[in-house]
Amino acid sequence: MNEERTSIHGQWSSKFAFILAATGCAVGLGNIWKFPYITGENGGGAFVIIYLICIVLMGLPVMIAEVLLGRRGKHSPINSMRYIAQEESASRWWQLIGWSGVVAGFIILSYYSVIAGWSLAYIPIMAEGTFNVVQSLSSPEAVKQFAQNNFATLISNPITLIGWHTAFMAVTIIMVSGGVKGGLERAVQFMMPALFVLLLVLLGYAISTGDYFIKGVEFLFRVDFEALFYPNCTPDSCEFSGRGVLVAMGQAFFTLSLGMGSIMVYGAYLSQKTSIAKTTAVVVAADTMIAILAGLIIFPIVFSNQLAPGAGPGLVFQTLPIAFGQMPWGTFFGTLFFILLAFAAWSSSISIAEPVVSWLVEATSLSRRVLCIFVGFLAWFIGLITVFSFNIWSEVKPLSNFTMFENSTLFDLLDFLTVNIMLPLGGLAMAIFVAWVMRSRSVTQELKTTESSVLYRLWLFALRFITPLGVGLVFLNAIGVFS
Ligand code: TRP
Repeated sequence: MNEERTSIHGQWSSKFAFILAATGCAVGLGNIWKFPYITGENGGGAFVIIYLICIVLMGLPVMIAEVLLGRRGKHSPINSMRYIAQEESASRWWQLIGWSGVVAGFIILSYYSVIAGWSLAYIPIMAEGTFNVVQSLSSPEAVKQFAQNNFATLISNPITLIGWHTAFMAVTIIMVSGGVKGGLERAVQFMMPALFVLLLVLLGYAISTGDYFIKGVEFLFRVDFEALFYPNCTPDSCEFSGRGVLVAMGQAFFTLSLGMGSIMVYGAYLSQKTSIAKTTAVVVAADTMIAILAGLIIFPIVFSNQLAPGAGPGLVFQTLPIAFGQMPWGTFFGTLFFILLAFAAWSSSISIAEPVVSWLVEATSLSRRVLCIFVGFLAWFIGLITVFSFNIWSEVKPLSNFTMFENSTLFDLLDFLTVNIMLPLGGLAMAIFVAWVMRSRSVTQELKTTESSVLYRLWLFALRFITPLGVGLVFLNAIGVFS
């Protein structure tokens, strides 16, 4: 039926190109910056298990659904949802999925760029060999102080942060302006493999820490539910908190780029010939592997330098530079690492901008380039909230009356709203639409399968029941129904 249709925005040149782009979209700060630090904050192993369960039972099925919607709609998420809803004689309101994605996209892009800017900032820090002095520092305490001070100096200076944030956003805009083939595809082709190889080198270093490597592995994989559910225990009080589970689920959506249209719009550029399920499984596996790899690298370094696993958003930037300072060729590897991390972030940030940009291209007569500049500027401006959250507004905590948000800065709140609320709800809406609203004939046609296939049934079951139940339970839990 729609064998011959292609998106007006272009198409990936091959199946491999799609896998690369979708992996580039999925693998980013979420894997290397966020996964280790939220794992550290939520006690380790138990959190990792919940995260992995969410990836398999919700992440993979929802990702298949999201790619499917994109490829069937062949437009920006807003218009794709509109066309498909029409085709399936469903309510027009389903396009709200696209709209919520636009809002979430602006917010996520805004802070993503600021954090990626930190990575840019560490490129010259490493290149100058700043961290080589840790070899001559006598005590672990001094090493730790040095790394912490270095990071604190960076984030306490709003002007520096704005500079790097601007640079990151500018390059994102240039890449998105290039369109599907010119910009997005070329950009990720060589950076992803290079990043992977460098992570393996770092893993080698982490293993060389011996006992500390074992400690790191234990932290990641020893399941201790008390650490997850009772995070703030003092000798005389222990309060149950379901927040860790909500964070794990949010992370599953964030790391796979689900729930806001990134994956949908990438699906729109996918050839009708490609198998959605297989390619998606590859992307999910690669993303999960990189996150675990990052954890295996970072926690041994945390323990061997007596840093705290729960150090928060600065964790990667305080641990890895120490490792680079200590290892042979550290200046070279350190510089390279932060360059590659920035590239991994770019191949993700372009996917955060693309849903909005593609919609504006469809809805206006302005050129893609002009629209990119507009989107970039707006997201840049919103990003200032995040910049200031780490310095001049670090004490601004608007929801401090609620225990759950006691210590949450504006950045924390934006992050929480988008990642833990909007993405899961977006993903849930997509799951319900595909599994309950769309005609099964349309769905099986898109997946090139039949209703009797076992895998198809398992997938449908996950979308129909597990995802709604999971998202529902986690929300009830988070608002304290079970405590
Ligand atoms: N998944 C990416 C990461 O792990 C970030 C990302 C790209 C994203 N597109 C997204 C997150 C869409 C949420 C929604 O860094």
